[in-house]
Amino acid sequence: MAGYWESTAPGRGRRAPRAEAVSDARVLSLNGSWRFRLSPTAAGSGEEFVGEDFDDSGWDAMPVPSHWVLEEFTPLAGGPPRSMRGTAEGPLYTNTAYPIPLDAPRVSTENPTGDYRLVFDVPADWESAVLRFQGVDSCAKVWLNGVELGWSMGSRLPFEFDAAVVPGPNLLAVRVHRWSAGTYLEDQDMWWLPGIFRDVELIERRAGAIDDHFVHADFDARTGMGALRVDATAEAIVEVPELGIRMPAGETARVPVEPWSADAPRLYSGTLTSAGEVVQLAIGFRRVEIRDGVFEVNGRPLTFRGVNRHEHHPDTGRTLSRATMIEDIVLMKRANIDAVRTSHYPPHPEFLRLCDEYGLWVVVECDLETHGFIYDGWATNPPDDPAWREAILDRMRRTVERDKNRPSVVIWSLGNESGTGEAFAGLERWTRERDPSRPVLYERDPSYRNSDFYSLMYPSLELLEHIGRGEEPAPEGIDETDEARRRGLPFLLIEYAHAMGNGPGSLQDYWAIMDAHPRLCGGFVWEWIDHGFSARTAEGVPFIMHGDDVEYEPRGGRFSLHGLVFSDRTPTPGLVELAKAYAPISIRVGAEVEIANARHSADTSDLAFRWAVEIDGRVAESGTLAVEPVPAGASLTVPLPFDLSASPDAVLTVEAALAADGSWAPAGHVVAWGQAVAEPVRASTSPASTAPASTAPASAVSAPGETARAPAGTDIAIGAAVFDATTGRMRRLGALELDGPWLDLHRAPTENDHGQGDLNDIASVWRKTGADRLRHRTDSVDAGADWLRVTGRTAPTSHPHGVEWQMLWRADGDGIALETTVDFVGPWRDTPYMHRDIWVPRVGLLFSLPGGYDAARWWGRGPGETYVDSCEGSRRGVFARTIEELQVDYPVPQENGNHIETRWLELSGSWVPNLRVDGRPEFDFTARRWTSFDLQRAAKPHELVDTGRVWLNIDHRQQGLGSASVGPALPERYRVPRERTTWSVRLSSV
Ligand code: GAL
Repeated sequence: MAGYWESTAPGRGRRAPRAEAVSDARVLSLNGSWRFRLSPTAAGSGEEFVGEDFDDSGWDAMPVPSHWVLEEFTPLAGGPPRSMRGTAEGPLYTNTAYPIPLDAPRVSTENPTGDYRLVFDVPADWESAVLRFQGVDSCAKVWLNGVELGWSMGSRLPFEFDAAVVPGPNLLAVRVHRWSAGTYLEDQDMWWLPGIFRDVELIERRAGAIDDHFVHADFDARTGMGALRVDATAEAIVEVPELGIRMPAGETARVPVEPWSADAPRLYSGTLTSAGEVVQLAIGFRRVEIRDGVFEVNGRPLTFRGVNRHEHHPDTGRTLSRATMIEDIVLMKRANIDAVRTSHYPPHPEFLRLCDEYGLWVVVECDLETHGFIYDGWATNPPDDPAWREAILDRMRRTVERDKNRPSVVIWSLGNESGTGEAFAGLERWTRERDPSRPVLYERDPSYRNSDFYSLMYPSLELLEHIGRGEEPAPEGIDETDEARRRGLPFLLIEYAHAMGNGPGSLQDYWAIMDAHPRLCGGFVWEWIDHGFSARTAEGVPFIMHGDDVEYEPRGGRFSLHGLVFSDRTPTPGLVELAKAYAPISIRVGAEVEIANARHSADTSDLAFRWAVEIDGRVAESGTLAVEPVPAGASLTVPLPFDLSASPDAVLTVEAALAADGSWAPAGHVVAWGQAVAEPVRASTSPASTAPASTAPASAVSAPGETARAPAGTDIAIGAAVFDATTGRMRRLGALELDGPWLDLHRAPTENDHGQGDLNDIASVWRKTGADRLRHRTDSVDAGADWLRVTGRTAPTSHPHGVEWQMLWRADGDGIALETTVDFVGPWRDTPYMHRDIWVPRVGLLFSLPGGYDAARWWGRGPGETYVDSCEGSRRGVFARTIEELQVDYPVPQENGNHIETRWLELSGSWVPNLRVDGRPEFDFTARRWTSFDLQRAAKPHELVDTGRVWLNIDHRQQGLGSASVGPALPERYRVPRERTTWSVRLSSV
């Protein structure tokens, strides 16, 4: 027999949805410690728990708001606390699959159910009250003083009841089911986290109070006039003193105003006063339109520099404090992010109030996703089934009604990945009628019939370019009318650049295309934050828990970690790269300094421009740059403040920084920068040498007549270096004892190397073809007085392909120069099975150095890690870091810490001579206390242990990062060409 929690109805007994408001009505927060009892089925702790006479002294204490699966259960009667983290009763992570049978709207009898009780006091002078739950996952039934008020589904949406409270103590009882019919509408890619996880409030209601109000604040960019009308459900007066407005609700005032934008979030404070309530108004005037296929706000095209934001905290899940919301916004603003898609549900309402205040454009998404119906071939998809119509519309109504007064909200999204169905026409119709001022978005229906935007996720750069030009292929099976309409729509990239693990790459590439085409109105990176939970091993070692740390099927594994910030909000290198790609000011330092302002509306008068020239890491000269305010959309040039031509290796940096303290960053915060670099210092040239010519293919090298074949087993000294005569590897350089180099072709796969499922899974090709099982063979070691030539072959076990190489060493003053040539031989395909081409992730040299090294100093990109397709956010110059600081502690160990465009590198330590590497002209380097194989094998960062050596990679090239964990394969130009290659470096030790 189905219970209410298995009903396709959205709820019962609730008040009509309405705007979130701050008013003078007294609010009693019911947050705090509640009494709690968890039971295995929907029958809960027994039917009688709702009355005063029920004895709950044997229950646990449970904080509200929280998710019970993340909390410690503290028995009121004493005893040790228990926690469910890491168990199948605890938080479960799935991406698309439902963790319950696909049997909508029914759920299994096993249905963890939490009964909650709270006694609270109501002041004697309250006339009446409304009880509000801001969010309960997934279905709640509520009783007040033993009387049932009703029930509701829709986890990330508020619901309210009229509450017949009595003066003095009142008893609130709530039953929360983990699984319900609502579960089928909430299949977002995230953890399943039941509980009363947002605030519970009792709001005083006096006679004449305002149930609902709707602020309409339009801005006409041609006239500069704002038009304000506030509709209210009660007779009320609107006052905005700053604008001299005092008028009845429902009337319109037209006044000159400053518009609201994310750049300049101008809010006007006002009040809405009825006989029983004074509501605070925070009014932002703006107009959102689509004109000729271009998305515009206040008459100017708007391009979102956006991220998708889930609510996540590593300890409390989707229960977030205001401080955490502010932390998100501040981090975003500092990274030049100006827009948020609230994937995939309305966030806590306070977040949107903060977006109004700090300035972020927001796409609010309805709490709707039915992705898991894909496993039924979409046959029973709720949006396509009239039985669910009301429940789905209820979610949209609660979304729009709650957030309709937020100027930051500029688009309503009907939901995420819910297939197609008639429900969307209903959602669109209702939304447009209720709020004609904002466009609507739905990405998943290829007809785009119910959307004001053409939209996709994760297109390739080529496809995005085609879309920008309006030359994209038509979606299949779409009728002509829909197709003609779709071609005229602006394009919104709701998800791109999958930030899972080390990555994403190509951010600059996406933005070069985005900037070039007015049809493209920006994009939202997937996604803001890793969803990992703080956990500890049995030994107490902290780690970040992901989906694979829970024994439950189905599970989404590590896929919960795809953020630009780690779970604890530490920025990843990806965020550094994004800050550059999203910089709203571009500074190009060439023959002149070109400054362009791509902001939507603000000029540059809030910024101070300054320059500095650095030589060998020290500021040699600096100054300020006089720059007239550049209006939005304009650019100008100023003369170059310094001539670099006479200062090799010097770097000129021009920065635009906040001139004064702002709400989200202090004065001096750098918004944008540009650089010019001088030519490298000429490396010393080697003295005349009798070394053989280096142009012969490695595979064809034969011992030239003038060489003396070295006797096996002895050492060979060449200048400052000593080599092993059998292996040809270096043993000593000056006083430095080392080993290497080995030719290196491997890296520990990144999440993007693993691709998505079977798609673009280059890591499995590497594994199958032995790229991580390389063996080395030395074929010849020949030496002259001041040169040594070593040839050999490096190849994977079991396979016929490999690399033939030659390393040609020449004494070079106090150091030694090395020219390496590699030739790829054999098929380099994963024959005989798949016939896929194998591209190697790196071509380089691996050295084993004593563990005494602890610091690196280099000229190159820095200070963070860089890869060919993710480097523009890192400056060039001289940087210094410890070996430990060079590591990026990804919660799943993988390749990290590379530095491209390095001109020279110095390693130093307490008991080892300095090692210097000079590029001719440049190289990539990585230095770590473990090998790539250790990185590949470790499942958690704490499994990486110091090997007692420093493993130094000096690479010709390493492939880029891409974002193939969801998205296109790594573009060809960022791979390592499998071709004959020669490169040089010089090593010295002092
Ligand atoms: C999208 C989805 C997101 C997330 C992403 C991959 O399809 O909307 O929720 O799953 O893919 O990480």
